[in-house]
Amino acid sequence: MGIVSLGNEPQRQEAYETIRKVRLEVPMVLLESEAYNLYAAALQTQKLGGAVAELGVYRGGSARLLCEVRGDRPLHLFDTFEGLPEVSDLDVSFRKGGFAGSLEDVKKILEPFPDISYHRGFFPASANGFAPDIRFSLVHMDVDLYQSTLDGLKWFYPRILRGGVLISHDYVDAAGVRQAFQEFLADKPECLIELAGTQAAMVKL
Ligand SMILES: C[S@@+](CC[C@H](N)C(=O)[O-])C[C@H]1O[C@@H](n2cnc3c(N)ncnc32)[C@H](O)[C@@H]1O
Repeated sequence: MGIVSLGNEPQRQEAYETIRKVRLEVPMVLLESEAYNLYAAALQTQKLGGAVAELGVYRGGSARLLCEVRGDRPLHLFDTFEGLPEVSDLDVSFRKGGFAGSLEDVKKILEPFPDISYHRGFFPASANGFAPDIRFSLVHMDVDLYQSTLDGLKWFYPRILRGGVLISHDYVDAAGVRQAFQEFLADKPECLIELAGTQAAMVKL
């Protein structure tokens, strides 16, 4: 595909309009600036091919947004669909069972979109059985908790294409998420970019 850019006003407006349209259809936890960051990362990584993944789907808001901008990449969605698992002492503002979405409702919302795989259950066990050669150009993590974030980083990192992007919600406001990133990246060459809102992103080297 050609050069994609959000560097001009009509394309920015289109992104914001798409975010507004999606939010009217389905509740999304992401702030407008965070949804924009995700949109921009999804747009720019289209050229890498591979697959797109979301760990932490809830009611499908951010997954629905990804459907607008993933291009022809397959989308893999991971969630317990029973809410957050056990929390640790670091996860002070979260509770087990919070953010319980329904898989059936998410499937209904995303029904018009092709090539979506649902991986229901506790991650990383729900990722068992993937072909060893699966590669992702974009991973969106939004799991709130220390252990889920650490498990997500461990599983996805070796499966992200060079130049691919991992973007996570709640880096700024959730101590567990922050701790998991700091531990995991301590011996890695990648830099973490703290974005507007609460997100952070990493480009795989
Ligand atoms: C804040 S919600 C996601 C919000 C969604 N991305 C959005 O923008 O609408 C967090 C989700 O992470 C899921 N989650 C957290 N840890 C998980 C784990 N280890 N395995 C599967 N799902 C997990 C919860 O079930 C919950 O649906």
